[in-house]
Amino acid sequence: MSTHDSQHAPAAERPVGNDRPGHGHADWEERYAGAPVWSGKPNVALVAEVSDLAPGRVLDVGCGEGADAIWLASRGWRVTAIDVATNALGRSRAAAEAAGVHVDWVSSGLVELPERDGCFDLVTVFYPALMRTPDSSAEAALLGAVAPGGTLLVVHHAEIDRAVAQSHGFDPDDYVGHDDVVAALGDGWVIEVKEQRERDVTEGAGAHHHHDLVVRARRLPL
Ligand SMILES: C[S@@+](CC[C@H](N)C(=O)[O-])C[C@H]1O[C@@H](n2cnc3c(N)ncnc32)[C@H](O)[C@@H]1O
Repeated sequence: MSTHDSQHAPAAERPVGNDRPGHGHADWEERYAGAPVWSGKPNVALVAEVSDLAPGRVLDVGCGEGADAIWLASRGWRVTAIDVATNALGRSRAAAEAAGVHVDWVSSGLVELPERDGCFDLVTVFYPALMRTPDSSAEAALLGAVAPGGTLLVVHHAEIDRAVAQSHGFDPDDYVGHDDVVAALGDGWVIEVKEQRERDVTEGAGAHHHHDLVVRARRLPL
């Protein structure tokens, strides 16, 4: 199910950027300043979709507290994990040290990340908080980061109740959704997985979400 539909204002008519109350980098910092936010476990869809891939270079976008990046590193991937929240990266670094794995933790937004295009055999994004913009810059950055022959894995929450989200100051229409990612995958990509799945997460702030939208796509070799 899409998190946005045609009756809502298109992105071009809404304010963009990270300066709106409740949506900015400072809000993420604050969120990661308190108790642990997420479950601390690797995402089930990550394990399902990536276990059979040969390890290479991976970019985890919006890594949060780092559980997915740490799992990837433990499987032999060379991991770059980015987040806009330095508090999140501090937690991730500590968890990686405790797990005895190396990850390059980078304080950056996706669009601002240098040395990105074509660099990664795998790009993963779990529950993106990437702003929708009229020029679709986040989608372009995501797809562009994948090397020819590489894989993009994006997982969103499904069946978001827009009214409930808005009552918490969050409008799903403001963010790059599953449909936006699928629409961006044009010539040069093969969609290998596109489905809604149940998820069973009992800990962390996402425990009330029970369905995922999973898209895994492979960029065709040149
Ligand atoms: C919903 S959380 C998901 C965290 C993690 N992927 C997980 O599944 O537990 C979204 C994360 O994206 C980060 N974020 C927000 N804007 C971002 C951006 N422009 N580029 C990279 N990360 C961003 C937030 O700080 C937050 O950690």
